[in-house]
Amino acid sequence: MAIIAAPQDLTESDVFVDLEPLLGRQLYLKCEGLNFGGSIKLRAAASMISAAERAGTLGPDSVLIESSSGNLGVALSIIAANKGLRFTCVTDRRCNEITAATMRALGTDLVVIDEPDPEGGYLAARLDWVRSRCAADERYVWLNQYTNEANWGAHYGGTAPMILKHLPDLEVLFVGVGTAGTAMGCARYFKDIGSPARIVGIDSIGSVSFGNPPGPRLIPGLGAGVRPALLDLSYFDDLVEVAELDSVRTCRSLASRGMLFGGSTGTVVSGAMRWLERNDPGRVLRSACISPDMGDRYLSTLYDDAWVLEHFGPRALEPLPAFSR
Ligand SMILES: Cc1ncc(COP(=O)(O)O)c(C=O)c1O
Repeated sequence: MAIIAAPQDLTESDVFVDLEPLLGRQLYLKCEGLNFGGSIKLRAAASMISAAERAGTLGPDSVLIESSSGNLGVALSIIAANKGLRFTCVTDRRCNEITAATMRALGTDLVVIDEPDPEGGYLAARLDWVRSRCAADERYVWLNQYTNEANWGAHYGGTAPMILKHLPDLEVLFVGVGTAGTAMGCARYFKDIGSPARIVGIDSIGSVSFGNPPGPRLIPGLGAGVRPALLDLSYFDDLVEVAELDSVRTCRSLASRGMLFGGSTGTVVSGAMRWLERNDPGRVLRSACISPDMGDRYLSTLYDDAWVLEHFGPRALEPLPAFSR
């Protein structure tokens, strides 16, 4: 049992789903969506705010500001509310309604950008808004998840040691790459302690992070239109890019077995299954994936048949053979 004094204190989930009964492989799914923020971003938010507090950047008049399309915004909203800090979250019209409503319910001032930047899209327009606000008013404190070392530090000090505590003989870790905080924190920790486990980075096709051309992407969380500043590919043993069609099918296949996970979990599990099929024909490797969030924020997208048909066609509704009974 955990007794906590603040919502952000509950970041340690030691829940791992053993996928071997489903997939016939030693693949464990570390669930990071079982906290007050509903995602792994509660770790990054808590770590970045603690670092700002230690550095003395946050005073009684400070107003936190961050650009986020979802999970980090919710996580920061929770901590800001708990600490009595003001928080402005700059998002855009793609932010789903439940996420926006959650942030407002927590007292966050939500700015929704309607017009994308002609070259850099919504992200560039959001960042411009943040920069101009910071330039105009020194009370604003921008944590900037894309460059903040405390983002990866959260996983170096939390996620990675927790994985190895429960799976000390781990041989492969599959991690999704968004800002790259999770992946870089885990990769650096594994390297520093001399773990022999291989690190495989997973991303969506259409993201530029692994050096491929940009393309349309609909599932939030992973991927970037601009290479993440925190990402250092030399830390990875291998990289896999997954088509969003496969992410959707994997999510829906997991749901057919009673587990409703978020979109990036489908991407990471799909990438892991593909990598293991190629590299572990004997099915002997002990491996793990990180699941960043659960599926409730995706009910009107990934789990809505009409939405899936419109964007991915009828194949996306078919469960994967690996999950069939
Ligand atoms: C659902 C989801 N998956 C994956 C990620 C990627 O994590 P990171 O930014 O640490 O690379 C995020 C980050 O926002 C996320 O919200």
